[in-house]
Amino acid sequence: MPDTLPAPSTALAALLSRASVPPRLLQAPGPDDITLGHAVAAALRAPDHGGLRPSRFVCIEGDARAAFGAVIAASLLRRLPDTPPERLDLERAKPLRAPLLVAAGAALRPGHRIPLWEQQATAAAGVMNFLNAIEAQGFGAIWLSSGALDDAEVKRALGFVETDMLLGWIYVGTPAPDRPRPPRPDPDGFWRRWAPA
Ligand SMILES: Cc1cc2nc3c(=O)[nH]c(=O)nc-3n(C[C@H](O)[C@H](O)[C@H](O)COP(=O)(O)O)c2cc1C
Repeated sequence: MPDTLPAPSTALAALLSRASVPPRLLQAPGPDDITLGHAVAAALRAPDHGGLRPSRFVCIEGDARAAFGAVIAASLLRRLPDTPPERLDLERAKPLRAPLLVAAGAALRPGHRIPLWEQQATAAAGVMNFLNAIEAQGFGAIWLSSGALDDAEVKRALGFVETDMLLGWIYVGTPAPDRPRPPRPDPDGFWRRWAPA
């Protein structure tokens, strides 16, 4: 890794400085529609074999967050009927931790000549572009998962169909000043040149 980072205005500097922001450090305001539009446009620049455009983003803001909290708490209770009330309360409150919760999904085409994993890779790469674009516009985000992602009723509540896939919960907001900037590994251990034997 070079000692000096590129000039802060470059795309590379943005990529090299990106870091997730825990939901408790994501404050108001959340991004406006123009900012979100840029992030979704960036997602749609992901490599896409067959041009199937699988990326889908469902934004949950304001009062809708509490209503969606009820959806995921009900999901948890369905999956784990013995869940204590305090844990259900925690689940219900999760969407309220940040100004915006985005359900990132993939509209998949089972049986298509493009393998499912490639369609999923496109959607996941789209989420990564979305995160980078959110951060490049001065906001913060984190990609989280939970058992609710695999719940058909949660998918349905979000407008997805059975064959769609929920890839994650993206919490978005304005990062608190004390957001973490964790140290990153030296890239040297992660690449090598191949030479014929
Ligand atoms: C598909 C996916 C699901 C994730 N789910 C969780 C999660 O449920 N909880 C968690 O703490 N981190 C989760 N992470 C990791 C965080 O998004 C984040 O990468 C991690 O906190 C490290 O921060 P960094 O992105 O700044 O390296 C997930 C990442 C991916 C790609």
